[in-house]
Amino acid sequence: MGKEKIILTGDRPTGRLHIGHYVGSLRRRVELQNSGLYDKIYVMIADAQALTDNADNPEKVRQNIIEVALDYLACGLDPKKTTIFIQSQVSELTELTFFYMNLVSIQRLQRNPTVKQEILLRGFNSDEAEENKKGIPTGFFCYPISQAADITFCKANVVPVGEDQEPMIEQTREIVRKFNSIYGETLVEPEIMLPDNAACLRLPGTDGKAKMSKSLGNCIYLADEPEEIKKKVLGMFTDPTHLRVEDPGHVEGNPVFQYLEAFCKDEHFEKFASCFVGKKASFVFHNLDELKAKYQEGGLGDMMIKNFLNCVLQDTLEPIRERRKALQKDLAYVYDVLKKGSEAAQKVAAETMAEVKKAMRINYFDPGVLEELIRSQEEKYQ
Ligand code: TRP
Repeated sequence: MGKEKIILTGDRPTGRLHIGHYVGSLRRRVELQNSGLYDKIYVMIADAQALTDNADNPEKVRQNIIEVALDYLACGLDPKKTTIFIQSQVSELTELTFFYMNLVSIQRLQRNPTVKQEILLRGFNSDEAEENKKGIPTGFFCYPISQAADITFCKANVVPVGEDQEPMIEQTREIVRKFNSIYGETLVEPEIMLPDNAACLRLPGTDGKAKMSKSLGNCIYLADEPEEIKKKVLGMFTDPTHLRVEDPGHVEGNPVFQYLEAFCKDEHFEKFASCFVGKKASFVFHNLDELKAKYQEGGLGDMMIKNFLNCVLQDTLEPIRERRKALQKDLAYVYDVLKKGSEAAQKVAAETMAEVKKAMRINYFDPGVLEELIRSQEEKYQ
Protein backbone atom coordinates (compact mmCIF):
# COMPACT_ATOMS: atom_id res chain seq x y z
CA MET A 1 0.00 0.00 0.00
CA GLY A 2 1.49 3.29 -1.11
CA LYS A 3 0.72 6.39 0.84
CA GLU A 4 -2.17 8.60 -0.15
CA LYS A 5 -1.59 11.07 -2.94
CA ILE A 6 -2.96 14.45 -1.99
CA ILE A 7 -2.87 17.64 -4.03
CA LEU A 8 -3.26 21.18 -2.78
CA THR A 9 -2.97 24.35 -4.79
CA GLY A 10 -4.66 27.72 -5.00
CA ASP A 11 -4.86 31.30 -6.21
CA ARG A 12 -5.17 34.73 -4.69
CA PRO A 13 -8.52 36.28 -5.50
CA THR A 14 -7.28 39.62 -6.77
CA GLY A 15 -8.78 39.49 -10.26
CA ARG A 16 -10.38 37.34 -12.89
CA LEU A 17 -8.22 34.53 -14.15
CA HIS A 18 -6.55 34.89 -17.53
CA ILE A 19 -5.14 32.52 -20.14
CA GLY A 20 -1.77 32.54 -18.37
CA HIS A 21 -3.49 30.96 -15.36
CA TYR A 22 -5.26 28.57 -17.71
CA VAL A 23 -2.17 27.13 -19.40
CA GLY A 24 0.01 27.51 -16.32
CA SER A 25 -2.29 25.78 -13.86
CA LEU A 26 -6.04 25.47 -14.46
CA ARG A 27 -5.87 23.14 -17.46
CA ARG A 28 -3.46 20.87 -15.60
CA ARG A 29 -5.59 20.79 -12.47
CA VAL A 30 -8.57 19.57 -14.42
CA GLU A 31 -6.42 16.86 -16.02
CA LEU A 32 -5.09 15.83 -12.61
CA GLN A 33 -8.61 15.81 -11.21
CA ASN A 34 -9.84 13.58 -14.02
CA SER A 35 -6.80 11.29 -14.03
CA GLY A 36 -8.09 9.34 -11.05
CA LEU A 37 -4.51 9.11 -9.75
CA TYR A 38 -5.08 11.26 -6.66
CA ASP A 39 -6.88 10.43 -3.46
CA LYS A 40 -7.79 14.00 -2.58
CA ILE A 41 -7.53 17.32 -4.41
CA TYR A 42 -7.89 20.67 -2.68
CA VAL A 43 -8.05 23.96 -4.54
CA MET A 44 -7.99 26.99 -2.31
CA ILE A 45 -9.06 30.57 -2.91
CA ALA A 46 -6.36 32.34 -0.91
CA ASP A 47 -8.30 35.36 0.34
CA ALA A 48 -6.26 35.67 3.54
CA GLN A 49 -3.08 35.78 1.49
CA ALA A 50 -4.66 38.33 -0.86
CA LEU A 51 -5.39 40.50 2.17
CA THR A 52 -1.72 40.57 3.17
CA ASP A 53 -1.18 43.29 0.58
CA ASN A 54 -4.78 44.44 0.18
CA ALA A 55 -5.69 45.08 3.80
CA ASP A 56 -7.21 48.42 2.83
CA ASN A 57 -9.25 46.92 0.02
CA PRO A 58 -11.28 44.03 1.43
CA GLU A 59 -14.11 44.60 -1.01
CA LYS A 60 -11.81 43.82 -3.94
CA VAL A 61 -10.91 40.48 -2.38
CA ARG A 62 -14.54 39.74 -1.52
CA GLN A 63 -15.71 40.45 -5.08
CA ASN A 64 -12.98 38.40 -6.68
CA ILE A 65 -13.72 35.24 -4.71
CA ILE A 66 -16.74 34.59 -6.88
CA GLU A 67 -14.85 35.54 -10.06
CA VAL A 68 -12.17 32.96 -9.33
CA ALA A 69 -14.75 30.34 -8.33
CA LEU A 70 -16.62 30.91 -11.61
CA ASP A 71 -13.39 30.55 -13.57
CA TYR A 72 -12.56 27.31 -11.74
CA LEU A 73 -15.91 25.70 -12.40
CA ALA A 74 -16.01 26.98 -15.98
CA CYS A 75 -12.65 25.35 -16.69
CA GLY A 76 -13.93 22.03 -15.45
CA LEU A 77 -13.05 21.71 -11.79
CA ASP A 78 -15.74 19.43 -10.41
CA PRO A 79 -16.80 19.90 -6.79
CA LYS A 80 -17.60 16.18 -6.60
CA LYS A 81 -13.94 15.39 -7.22
CA THR A 82 -12.16 18.49 -5.95
CA THR A 83 -12.62 20.33 -2.66
CA ILE A 84 -12.77 24.02 -3.52
CA PHE A 85 -12.57 26.19 -0.42
CA ILE A 86 -11.92 29.68 0.94
CA GLN A 87 -8.73 30.07 2.98
CA SER A 88 -10.08 32.48 5.61
CA GLN A 89 -12.89 30.08 6.51
CA VAL A 90 -10.40 27.54 7.84
CA SER A 91 -9.16 29.27 10.98
CA GLU A 92 -6.72 26.43 11.75
CA LEU A 93 -4.59 27.79 8.90
CA THR A 94 -3.97 30.96 10.86
CA GLU A 95 -3.26 28.96 13.97
CA LEU A 96 -0.72 26.74 12.22
CA THR A 97 0.94 29.80 10.71
CA PHE A 98 1.58 31.25 14.17
CA PHE A 99 3.35 28.11 15.34
CA TYR A 100 5.34 27.72 12.12
CA MET A 101 6.59 31.30 12.52
CA ASN A 102 8.77 30.06 15.38
CA LEU A 103 10.59 27.79 12.96
CA VAL A 104 11.62 30.44 10.42
CA SER A 105 14.08 33.28 10.86
CA ILE A 106 13.52 36.78 9.54
CA GLN A 107 16.76 36.40 7.61
CA ARG A 108 15.41 33.30 5.90
CA LEU A 109 12.24 35.14 4.87
CA GLN A 110 14.29 38.03 3.55
CA ARG A 111 16.07 35.68 1.15
CA ASN A 112 12.85 34.55 -0.58
CA PRO A 113 13.34 35.73 -4.19
CA THR A 114 9.62 35.83 -5.05
CA VAL A 115 8.78 37.92 -1.99
CA LYS A 116 11.74 40.21 -2.72
CA GLN A 117 10.45 40.82 -6.22
CA GLU A 118 6.90 41.39 -5.02
CA ILE A 119 8.11 43.93 -2.47
CA LEU A 120 9.76 45.93 -5.25
CA LEU A 121 6.73 45.58 -7.50
CA ARG A 122 4.40 46.90 -4.81
CA GLY A 123 6.66 49.76 -3.86
CA PHE A 124 7.00 48.57 -0.27
CA ASN A 125 10.12 50.00 1.22
CA SER A 126 11.78 48.76 4.34
CA ASP A 127 12.56 52.28 5.51
CA GLU A 128 9.20 53.25 6.88
CA ALA A 129 10.36 56.61 8.07
CA GLU A 130 10.85 57.91 4.57
CA GLU A 131 7.89 59.96 3.50
CA ASN A 132 5.44 58.45 1.00
CA LYS A 133 6.99 55.03 1.22
CA LYS A 134 4.87 52.22 2.53
CA GLY A 135 6.52 49.77 4.86
CA ILE A 136 6.28 46.03 4.26
CA PRO A 137 3.20 44.68 6.04
CA THR A 138 4.33 41.98 8.48
CA GLY A 139 1.60 39.65 7.28
CA PHE A 140 2.78 40.05 3.70
CA PHE A 141 6.37 39.38 4.68
CA CYS A 142 5.26 36.19 6.42
CA TYR A 143 2.95 34.85 3.74
CA PRO A 144 5.39 32.08 2.73
CA ILE A 145 4.88 30.71 6.25
CA SER A 146 1.13 30.90 5.90
CA GLN A 147 1.49 29.06 2.61
CA ALA A 148 3.23 26.24 4.49
CA ALA A 149 0.12 26.01 6.66
CA ASP A 150 -2.07 25.86 3.53
CA ILE A 151 -0.07 22.96 2.17
CA THR A 152 0.42 20.98 5.37
CA PHE A 153 -3.06 21.17 6.91
CA CYS A 154 -4.26 18.43 4.55
CA LYS A 155 -0.90 16.62 4.35
CA ALA A 156 -0.60 17.45 0.66
CA ASN A 157 2.38 15.80 -1.00
CA VAL A 158 1.92 17.26 -4.47
CA VAL A 159 1.64 21.01 -5.12
CA PRO A 160 1.05 21.94 -8.77
CA VAL A 161 2.16 25.57 -9.18
CA GLY A 162 4.14 27.87 -11.44
CA GLU A 163 7.87 28.31 -11.10
CA ASP A 164 7.43 31.59 -9.17
CA GLN A 165 6.06 29.47 -6.31
CA GLU A 166 9.17 27.32 -6.03
CA PRO A 167 10.60 29.32 -3.10
CA MET A 168 7.31 28.84 -1.21
CA ILE A 169 7.43 25.08 -1.60
CA GLU A 170 11.07 25.03 -0.53
CA GLN A 171 10.15 27.09 2.54
CA THR A 172 7.34 24.66 3.32
CA ARG A 173 9.70 21.70 3.04
CA GLU A 174 12.10 23.36 5.47
CA ILE A 175 9.31 24.04 7.95
CA VAL A 176 8.08 20.46 7.74
CA ARG A 177 11.57 19.05 8.29
CA LYS A 178 12.19 21.35 11.22
CA PHE A 179 8.81 20.68 12.78
CA ASN A 180 9.20 16.92 12.48
CA SER A 181 12.75 16.96 13.81
CA ILE A 182 11.77 18.94 16.91
CA TYR A 183 8.29 17.62 17.66
CA GLY A 184 8.32 14.18 16.02
CA GLU A 185 7.09 12.91 12.66
CA THR A 186 3.79 14.74 12.11
CA LEU A 187 3.77 16.75 8.87
CA VAL A 188 4.25 15.65 5.26
CA GLU A 189 6.95 17.14 3.04
CA PRO A 190 5.41 18.24 -0.29
CA GLU A 191 6.85 18.08 -3.79
CA ILE A 192 6.37 20.81 -6.35
CA MET A 193 4.78 19.85 -9.67
CA LEU A 194 5.75 22.34 -12.38
CA PRO A 195 3.86 22.75 -15.66
CA ASP A 196 5.03 20.12 -18.15
CA ASN A 197 5.16 22.37 -21.20
CA ALA A 198 7.95 24.94 -21.07
CA ALA A 199 5.80 27.48 -22.93
CA CYS A 200 3.29 27.29 -20.11
CA LEU A 201 5.78 28.10 -17.38
CA ARG A 202 5.12 31.74 -17.91
CA LEU A 203 2.98 33.04 -20.70
CA PRO A 204 4.04 36.60 -21.60
CA GLY A 205 1.57 39.46 -21.93
CA THR A 206 0.11 40.34 -25.33
CA ASP A 207 2.62 43.21 -25.40
CA GLY A 208 5.54 40.81 -25.02
CA LYS A 209 6.25 41.86 -21.42
CA ALA A 210 7.34 38.97 -19.24
CA LYS A 211 4.19 38.80 -17.16
CA MET A 212 0.48 39.13 -17.78
CA SER A 213 -0.85 41.64 -15.34
CA LYS A 214 -4.08 43.48 -14.95
CA SER A 215 -2.34 46.79 -14.36
CA LEU A 216 -0.38 46.46 -17.61
CA GLY A 217 -3.58 45.72 -19.56
CA ASN A 218 -1.85 42.91 -21.45
CA CYS A 219 -4.05 39.95 -20.45
CA ILE A 220 -6.62 37.88 -22.25
CA TYR A 221 -9.22 36.81 -19.68
CA LEU A 222 -11.16 33.56 -19.63
CA ALA A 223 -14.34 35.61 -19.52
CA ASP A 224 -13.40 37.85 -22.50
CA GLU A 225 -15.93 38.05 -25.32
CA PRO A 226 -14.89 36.84 -28.81
CA GLU A 227 -14.42 40.39 -30.17
CA GLU A 228 -12.17 41.35 -27.24
CA ILE A 229 -10.02 38.27 -27.77
CA LYS A 230 -9.69 39.01 -31.47
CA LYS A 231 -8.77 42.63 -30.85
CA LYS A 232 -6.12 41.66 -28.32
CA VAL A 233 -4.64 38.96 -30.56
CA LEU A 234 -4.50 41.15 -33.66
CA GLY A 235 -2.79 43.85 -31.61
CA MET A 236 -0.15 41.52 -30.23
CA PHE A 237 3.53 42.27 -30.18
CA THR A 238 5.47 39.96 -32.51
CA ASP A 239 8.99 39.98 -33.88
CA PRO A 240 10.09 43.62 -34.24
CA THR A 241 12.75 42.65 -36.82
CA HIS A 242 10.17 41.00 -39.07
CA LEU A 243 9.40 44.17 -41.02
CA ARG A 244 8.44 42.80 -44.41
CA VAL A 245 6.70 39.51 -45.13
CA GLU A 246 9.78 38.24 -46.97
CA ASP A 247 12.06 38.88 -43.99
CA PRO A 248 13.05 35.87 -41.91
CA GLY A 249 11.13 35.90 -38.61
CA HIS A 250 12.12 34.93 -35.09
CA VAL A 251 10.01 32.60 -32.99
CA GLU A 252 12.03 32.83 -29.77
CA GLY A 253 10.70 35.58 -27.55
CA ASN A 254 7.82 36.11 -30.00
CA PRO A 255 4.63 36.05 -27.91
CA VAL A 256 2.43 34.91 -30.80
CA PHE A 257 4.51 31.76 -31.10
CA GLN A 258 4.68 31.35 -27.32
CA TYR A 259 0.87 31.40 -27.23
CA LEU A 260 0.68 28.90 -30.08
CA GLU A 261 3.15 26.68 -28.26
CA ALA A 262 0.88 26.74 -25.23
CA PHE A 263 -2.47 26.37 -26.99
CA CYS A 264 -2.36 24.83 -30.44
CA LYS A 265 -2.70 21.17 -31.20
CA ASP A 266 -2.03 19.41 -34.50
CA GLU A 267 -5.80 19.15 -35.13
CA HIS A 268 -6.04 22.93 -35.22
CA PHE A 269 -3.96 23.02 -38.42
CA GLU A 270 -6.57 20.96 -40.22
CA LYS A 271 -9.53 22.67 -38.61
CA PHE A 272 -8.29 26.17 -39.39
CA ALA A 273 -6.41 25.46 -42.63
CA SER A 274 -8.28 28.36 -44.26
CA CYS A 275 -6.27 30.83 -42.15
CA PHE A 276 -3.29 30.04 -44.36
CA VAL A 277 -5.05 30.66 -47.64
CA GLY A 278 -4.14 34.18 -48.69
CA LYS A 279 -4.60 36.52 -51.62
CA LYS A 280 -0.91 36.52 -52.46
CA ALA A 281 0.26 33.17 -51.13
CA SER A 282 -1.20 30.05 -49.53
CA PHE A 283 0.38 27.44 -47.30
CA VAL A 284 -0.40 24.05 -45.86
CA PHE A 285 0.92 23.22 -42.41
CA HIS A 286 0.36 20.09 -40.35
CA ASN A 287 1.94 21.14 -37.10
CA LEU A 288 3.61 23.98 -35.26
CA ASP A 289 7.12 22.90 -36.27
CA GLU A 290 6.27 23.35 -39.95
CA LEU A 291 4.73 26.75 -39.27
CA LYS A 292 7.78 27.86 -37.32
CA ALA A 293 10.17 26.67 -40.03
CA LYS A 294 8.36 28.72 -42.67
CA TYR A 295 8.23 31.80 -40.45
CA GLN A 296 11.95 31.58 -39.80
CA GLU A 297 12.66 31.14 -43.49
CA GLY A 298 10.65 34.25 -44.42
CA GLY A 299 7.60 34.81 -46.58
CA LEU A 300 4.98 34.33 -43.90
CA GLY A 301 3.17 37.42 -42.65
CA ASP A 302 2.32 38.12 -39.02
CA MET A 303 -1.35 38.72 -39.85
CA MET A 304 -1.83 35.14 -41.03
CA ILE A 305 -0.33 33.76 -37.86
CA LYS A 306 -2.33 36.08 -35.67
CA ASN A 307 -5.51 35.05 -37.44
CA PHE A 308 -4.65 31.42 -36.83
CA LEU A 309 -3.88 32.10 -33.15
CA ASN A 310 -7.20 33.89 -32.83
CA CYS A 311 -9.02 30.82 -34.21
CA VAL A 312 -7.16 28.52 -31.84
CA LEU A 313 -7.92 30.72 -28.83
CA GLN A 314 -11.58 31.18 -29.77
CA ASP A 315 -11.90 27.42 -30.12
CA THR A 316 -10.37 26.80 -26.69
CA LEU A 317 -12.08 29.60 -24.80
CA GLU A 318 -15.60 29.39 -26.16
CA PRO A 319 -16.75 26.37 -24.13
CA ILE A 320 -15.21 27.88 -20.99
CA ARG A 321 -16.95 31.23 -21.52
CA GLU A 322 -20.29 29.54 -22.19
CA ARG A 323 -20.07 27.42 -19.03
CA ARG A 324 -19.13 30.55 -17.08
CA LYS A 325 -22.17 32.39 -18.38
CA ALA A 326 -24.45 29.55 -17.30
CA LEU A 327 -22.90 29.51 -13.82
CA GLN A 328 -23.24 33.28 -13.50
CA LYS A 329 -26.98 32.72 -13.56
CA ASP A 330 -26.76 30.42 -10.52
CA LEU A 331 -24.50 32.15 -8.03
CA ALA A 332 -26.28 30.50 -5.10
CA TYR A 333 -24.97 27.16 -6.39
CA VAL A 334 -21.43 28.53 -6.71
CA TYR A 335 -21.45 29.92 -3.16
CA ASP A 336 -22.84 26.63 -1.91
CA VAL A 337 -19.89 24.80 -3.50
CA LEU A 338 -17.53 27.14 -1.64
CA LYS A 339 -19.37 26.77 1.66
CA LYS A 340 -19.45 22.97 1.55
CA GLY A 341 -15.83 22.85 0.40
CA SER A 342 -14.75 25.14 3.23
CA GLU A 343 -16.59 22.98 5.78
CA ALA A 344 -14.92 19.84 4.45
CA ALA A 345 -11.46 21.47 4.50
CA GLN A 346 -12.03 22.77 8.02
CA LYS A 347 -12.79 19.26 9.28
CA VAL A 348 -9.52 17.94 7.91
CA ALA A 349 -7.66 20.94 9.31
CA ALA A 350 -9.09 20.32 12.78
CA GLU A 351 -7.69 16.77 12.72
CA THR A 352 -4.21 17.96 11.71
CA MET A 353 -4.39 20.75 14.28
CA ALA A 354 -5.05 18.20 17.04
CA GLU A 355 -2.01 16.19 15.93
CA VAL A 356 0.13 19.32 15.80
CA LYS A 357 -0.93 20.43 19.27
CA LYS A 358 -0.24 16.97 20.63
CA ALA A 359 3.21 16.90 19.03
CA MET A 360 3.94 20.40 20.36
CA ARG A 361 2.76 19.43 23.82
CA ILE A 362 0.08 22.12 23.92
CA ASN A 363 -2.84 19.70 24.01
CA TYR A 364 -3.45 20.27 27.74
CA PHE A 365 -7.15 19.48 27.72
CA ASP A 366 -7.24 16.46 25.41
CA PRO A 367 -8.95 13.44 27.00
CA GLY A 368 -6.62 11.75 29.49
CA VAL A 369 -3.93 14.42 29.12
CA LEU A 370 -5.11 16.70 31.91
CA GLU A 371 -5.14 13.90 34.49
CA GLU A 372 -1.60 12.95 33.50
CA LEU A 373 -0.54 16.59 33.62
CA ILE A 374 -1.95 17.05 37.14
CA ARG A 375 -0.29 13.85 38.30
CA SER A 376 3.11 14.94 37.01
CA GLN A 377 2.76 18.39 38.57
CA GLU A 378 1.73 16.88 41.89
CA GLU A 379 4.90 14.78 41.89
CA LYS A 380 6.88 17.95 41.44
CA TYR A 381 5.25 19.54 44.48
CA GLN A 382 5.25 16.53 46.82
N1 TRP B 1 0.78 32.17 -3.62
C1 TRP B 1 -0.14 31.56 -4.55
C2 TRP B 1 -0.32 32.55 -5.69
O1 TRP B 1 0.00 33.70 -5.57
C3 TRP B 1 -1.47 31.22 -3.94
C4 TRP B 1 -1.37 30.22 -2.83
C5 TRP B 1 -1.63 30.45 -1.51
C6 TRP B 1 -0.99 28.87 -2.94
N2 TRP B 1 -1.44 29.34 -0.78
C7 TRP B 1 -1.04 28.35 -1.62
C8 TRP B 1 -0.57 28.06 -4.00
C9 TRP B 1 -0.67 27.03 -1.35
C10 TRP B 1 -0.22 26.74 -3.72
C11 TRP B 1 -0.27 26.23 -2.41
O2 TRP B 1 -0.82 32.16 -6.72
